[in-house]
Amino acid sequence: MERVINRINSNINTYIEELKDFLRIPSISTSEQYKKEMLTGANFVADKMRTASLKNVKVIKTKGHPLVYADWLNAPGKPTVLIYGHYDVQPVDPISLWDSQPFDPVIKNGKIYARGATDDKGQMYMHIKSVEAYLKTVKRLPLNVKFIIEGEEEIGSENLEEFIYNNTKLLKCDTVLISDTALYGPGIPTITYGLRGLTYLEIEVTGPNRDLHSGTFGGTIANPINVLAEIISKLMDKNGHITIPGFYDDVIRITKKEKENFSSLVFSEKKFAKEIGVKKLKGEKGYTTLEREWARPTLDCNGILGGFTEEGAKTVLPSKAMAKISMRLVPNQDPYKISKLFTKYVKSITPDTVSIKIKDLHGGYPVLTPLDDKATIAGANAMAKAFGKKTVFMREGGSIPIVTVFAKKLKAPSVLMGLGLNTENLHSPNEHFDLKHFHLGILSSAYFLQEYAK
Ligand code: BES
Ligand code: MN
Ligand code: MN
Repeated sequence: MERVINRINSNINTYIEELKDFLRIPSISTSEQYKKEMLTGANFVADKMRTASLKNVKVIKTKGHPLVYADWLNAPGKPTVLIYGHYDVQPVDPISLWDSQPFDPVIKNGKIYARGATDDKGQMYMHIKSVEAYLKTVKRLPLNVKFIIEGEEEIGSENLEEFIYNNTKLLKCDTVLISDTALYGPGIPTITYGLRGLTYLEIEVTGPNRDLHSGTFGGTIANPINVLAEIISKLMDKNGHITIPGFYDDVIRITKKEKENFSSLVFSEKKFAKEIGVKKLKGEKGYTTLEREWARPTLDCNGILGGFTEEGAKTVLPSKAMAKISMRLVPNQDPYKISKLFTKYVKSITPDTVSIKIKDLHGGYPVLTPLDDKATIAGANAMAKAFGKKTVFMREGGSIPIVTVFAKKLKAPSVLMGLGLNTENLHSPNEHFDLKHFHLGILSSAYFLQEYAK
């Protein structure tokens, strides 16, 4: 182990240079425009896996963006870890708010700035380096390892899901190791044991067959924007409870033990509010901020469109109005069931003066992994070794929908050993990743393989 750790410590600067090369590839999965760059991203990952002495490295075509697979299976009788990550990144807009170019990584104060730095290129890359450190020094791993790296996490993982269905044997494993979540705070080793799920819909309200003069027609018809606003305002009451009938039916209550664990974590509402620049926090009545973020479902309008939005004033009644609405779900809510309940309720509160179309965009199931799982314990021990501190356990407000597919189809629990920070601007301008955590993540990964092999 000492040789492995020494190798990581003495090569960290090379790893950072490689990560920079990785971050230069604009692998944005949402738009067709970057199809070529997505392939470049997949090939980059595959090349680094080959250099790491992994076997059976393959770039696998799908209907969408390619997957990358690799393995090292020379530890008979030992468990198998499947390492998952994603090389696709979010779009960069609004570009004007970036202090440096999103695909020209720069290091400032020990942090690397680029799109994908923390979500998830930097985190995913840690595992390739830890495996490489073993294979280049002691020439073997303490257990069997498989990698599956995808390029569609940010757009719903549809093709990976299908691939898992058709390749359960290839991906067969005892546990899945994922670094795509956050630490509780800088320098705090953290295992995440819960993720929220998601239902994402688009609603479109149509009134007149064309935009109309708001003087000659104003007062005679229902304005689709007004109607849409009314609908949205009826989805939540003044206590922050979602009003959709049946919405909470399957929600697992927060246990007393969990409440205690949450409140044992150092948390300042003031600091939290200040960091994101709000005057005051707001959420569901009767719950703390951490409970609201990790263990309670939400409903939010993610975008709204309609009418005249350019400079100046135009007196017009719009023909249409549109809103994107998403709900973060908690165990045991089912995204399909929630989508149906939402649709039924919204239709029931829509006045007959307009027509409405509701489209289900994508979703994912929430996750809760048992704290006494062997892999979770190995993860906690590994991080504690790397950081030299006791590991804390938390849940997370974000979603990684593929985790449930691993659980259902491969019958394998996931260990969420994330090294990011929620303040590292993922999905937003000036995304960055703390290089201290990058280094500690490689060490944690190396220790995990040792711990889980025991
Ligand atoms: N890595 C994130 C999920 C995440 C975010 C975990 C913050 C922990 C903290 C992932 O890449 C992501 O963005 N997921 C989407 C899922 C969606 C596209 C289905 C999300 O949570 O919005
Ligand atoms: Mn991610
Ligand atoms: Mn993401």
